[in-house]
Amino acid sequence: MSPEDTGPTEHKASVLRGALIGCGYISPRHIRAWEASTSAELIAVCDTNTDRVNAAARAANVSRTFTSVDDLLNDLGDELDFIDICVPPELHLQLVDQVSARGINILCQKPLAATLADSLAIAEIAEQRKIVFAINEMWKWIPAYALVWDYLKRGDLGDIQFVKFAGHSNLLLPRRDSAIFDEVADRPSSANRDALMPRFSAMPQLIVLEYGVHILDMFREWFGEPKELRATVGRVNPDLVGDDSAFIQLKYDFPVEMSLDWSVPGPETPDNIDGESLVIRGSCGVLTVFAGKWVEWHPTGEAVQRFPFPQDTRDAGFAQSHQDFANAVAAGTEPASSVTGNLATQGLVLSCYASDSADAWIPAPAAAVYGTATN
Ligand SMILES: NC(=O)c1ccc[n+]([C@@H]2O[C@H](COP(=O)([O-])OP(=O)(O)OC[C@H]3O[C@@H](n4cnc5c(N)ncnc54)[C@H](O)[C@@H]3O)[C@@H](O)[C@H]2O)c1
Repeated sequence: MSPEDTGPTEHKASVLRGALIGCGYISPRHIRAWEASTSAELIAVCDTNTDRVNAAARAANVSRTFTSVDDLLNDLGDELDFIDICVPPELHLQLVDQVSARGINILCQKPLAATLADSLAIAEIAEQRKIVFAINEMWKWIPAYALVWDYLKRGDLGDIQFVKFAGHSNLLLPRRDSAIFDEVADRPSSANRDALMPRFSAMPQLIVLEYGVHILDMFREWFGEPKELRATVGRVNPDLVGDDSAFIQLKYDFPVEMSLDWSVPGPETPDNIDGESLVIRGSCGVLTVFAGKWVEWHPTGEAVQRFPFPQDTRDAGFAQSHQDFANAVAAGTEPASSVTGNLATQGLVLSCYASDSADAWIPAPAAAVYGTATN
């Protein structure tokens, strides 16, 4: 299909030029992140769905729209510094292959892929074609969690004694009605049902692959690779093929517990961060994060310090993640969420499912993928 003209495009002064492929549920956050970037901008958007691509073009204020990746690459392949891939994980390999064959740098949504084979193939392609490749792992840059990261880097907590993370959300509940979805950012209620449910309900692996991956990536960033992992996964929502709950234990020199659930009834919240809580206890104090939006630091024997953050802090995480990728493209350096690091994160994700199937602890879980790739 030929590009359609949807209005004028205003360019920033001196920037990297990119295109967004996939204008679904999460794309508005990407569009806002590129708008916020100081050194990169979108010049085109692409989606097989005409309504979505046109809506994204209006939101991004770009004039070039495409309903086929072939047309995008034929028309703009020589002009693009990067492509932002924002399609479901089972489609990542095909698009990474197609885009990187043109030597174009890639920012790809998490998770790296839906399978081990695809994850390894993507890593090999990214390395062989010498493109800058980053995964949009932005949870660690959500401001409240970025503050936790600062505390950990400074060693303010002393020796870590235990970590407990709980993430509960009811966005997938069967009893959902339009009132719940009206409040979800960026989409009217019917679009949210269309966008979220069909894709999630058919996925054979869901909650760890789609949500746990963020937290596992953040813990790898903070604490390194765990020595062992044990997980059980389950399904509450009968409309799903895959899992909507998980209990994960990670062994470092201290224990880490993660409880994830997408189907427990509770207060209706528009944002799955609202149901998160994190406690890290160290020899020098306790750090607590509520809803990804309030941090409490209680140094042993001293007064509690509280740090509030804006209600929707996820855009800041996306902006940071996108800017980190743009900086890496400009400098030709490794981005913070590199393909190598993300293979290790995938190792933890896939090990959760392997541990559940085997009903056993998995030693050196990150090596399930990372070790295979580097051996
Ligand atoms: N970081 C986060 O917080 C976060 C949150 C949600 C989703 N995601 C990730 O973002 C990715 C996309 O998820 P989503 O929920 O936006 O999915 P979605 O199904 O809402 O949107 C995907 C879009 O891609 C389009 N598409 C599919 N194949 C295409 C192709 N070949 N060419 C062009 N367009 C194509 C579809 O038409 C659809 O509009 C997933 O990898 C998901 O895990 C990340």
